Amino acid sequence: MKKVVFAIGLLFICFFNNLEAQTKIPADSIRSKMQWFADAKLGIFIHWGIYAVKGIGESWSFHNKEISHPDYMKQLNGFTAAKYDPSAWAALIKESGARYAVITTKHHDGVALWPTKQHHYNIPQNSPAKRDVLTPFFTALDKEGIKKGAYFSLIDWSYPDYPGFLKDSSRYKIANEPARWQRFLNFYQGQINELNMQYHPDLWWFDGDWEHSSDEWQAPKVRQQILQQTPTAIINGRLTGYGDYDTPEQNFPVTRPTYNWWELCMTINNSWGNQPRDTAWKTPYEIISIFADVISNGGNLLLDIGPTAEGIIPEKQVQVLKELGKWNKKHQEAVFGTLGGLPQGHFYGPTTLSKDSNTIYLFAPANAKGQLVIKGLSSKIKRVRLVGSNEQLKYKEVGKISWSPVPGLIYIPLPPTANDAYMDIIAVELEGPVKLYRGHGGLQ
Ligand code: GLC
Repeated sequence: MKKVVFAIGLLFICFFNNLEAQTKIPADSIRSKMQWFADAKLGIFIHWGIYAVKGIGESWSFHNKEISHPDYMKQLNGFTAAKYDPSAWAALIKESGARYAVITTKHHDGVALWPTKQHHYNIPQNSPAKRDVLTPFFTALDKEGIKKGAYFSLIDWSYPDYPGFLKDSSRYKIANEPARWQRFLNFYQGQINELNMQYHPDLWWFDGDWEHSSDEWQAPKVRQQILQQTPTAIINGRLTGYGDYDTPEQNFPVTRPTYNWWELCMTINNSWGNQPRDTAWKTPYEIISIFADVISNGGNLLLDIGPTAEGIIPEKQVQVLKELGKWNKKHQEAVFGTLGGLPQGHFYGPTTLSKDSNTIYLFAPANAKGQLVIKGLSSKIKRVRLVGSNEQLKYKEVGKISWSPVPGLIYIPLPPTANDAYMDIIAVELEGPVKLYRGHGGLQ
C-alpha cells in the first residue's frame, strides 16, 4: 500500500503541476479560494465509524481478513452515539486552535453517517443511534466559525456493484461489466451530490483513489460538479490529481514539499479510529514540535482523533488538543496567517514569517539553553521580543566584517522567562521584508 501511495504521491506532483492545463482552472481562482486554508495551519480529522465498536482497524480489518465482512458489519448494532455531544466536539476543536475539521462522512466500509437516499448502509437507518449524526456536527462547526470538511471514500468495499472487496478477491472487472461499474458511478456520485446539496462542505477530503484511474472515477466530472454547486470548495489531492493540495500521510516530509499547498495528516497514537489497544500516544511536546515543523515548511497539520462508538473523545486526545490550544493561544501571531519560514541553513529549528515578511519567528525547543543564532540575515533588525509577552530581548551581531556584504551571526540569549513547557517563540522584527544572504561566505 505504502508503495502505491508513494507512487500516487509522485503522480500528484505531476498532476498538480499541470492542474491548470488539465482542468482549465485559472490559477488565480485557486489561489484566492485557498487563502483561508493557507492561513488555517491546523485542522482536526475525525475518524468516526462502526469500527469504533470493537476498536478494530477502520475498514481495512475486513478487507485484510482480520474479521469477516458479516462480523464487521455487525458492529452497526453497537453504534449508539449515546453520549455524542456535537457542540462539545466543536468547542474542543475551537479550543485546540484548529480552523477546520474533517469528518469521515463515509469510510471504505461504505457506512454513511448521514441518511443517504442511495439505499446503502448508514448510521441513521441501520444502527441504534437512529439519527443523522452528521448534520448536528456540521451545524455546531458553523456556530463556532470552523470550516467544514467532508472526508469521503471513493472506494466502497461493501457496495455490491463496487469491484474491490477483500484483499485477495474482487467482485468483477470493469472491462467485463461496464454497466455494473456505471451503476456504481451513479451511486457514488449521487452520494457526493447529496452531501454537496445538503452541507456545502468547505473542503472535500477524498480517499482511496488508488484503486482506479481518473478516467474510471470520472474525476474531472466529480470536481466540476462540486465546484458548480460550491465554487469555493477546496478539494484534497486524492482525486487522482484533480485536487487542490497535497496530502502526505503520517510520514513527515524532510525537505519542503514543492507544491503550493500541502497538509500532513497524522494520528495521535498509531490508529485513525478508536482502538483502545493502541497506546502509542504521541506526547503534546511531540505533536507541537511536529506542528511547528509543518508550518515552518509552509504546510498544515490535520491531526486525527477517533471517538468511541458512544461518541466520547478519548481522554489522551482531549489532553493533546487542550495543550495544543494553550500553546496556540499564547503564540497565535507566530502560527496563524503566517508564511513558511526561512530556507534551511539560516536557523537550527522551525521558523515562520509574518505575512508581510517583516517579522521572523524563531521556534526554540523547551528549555533550549543558552542562545539562538541566525545566519545570513541581511535585513536590519528593529527589535527582538519574546512572543506571548512583550519582553524585549537583547541580541548581538557577531563576526560582522565592516567591508564585507556578508552579514554577521545574530546571537539572541534566551531570558529565564523563555520557559514555555513546549516551545518558546522569539519574534525578530525587521525594517522591511526579510532579506537573506545565501552565498558561500568568504571574500564576497
Ligand atoms: C488511508 C487509509 C485510511 C485512512 C486515511 C487517512 O488512506 O486508507 O484508512 O482513513 O489514510 O488519511
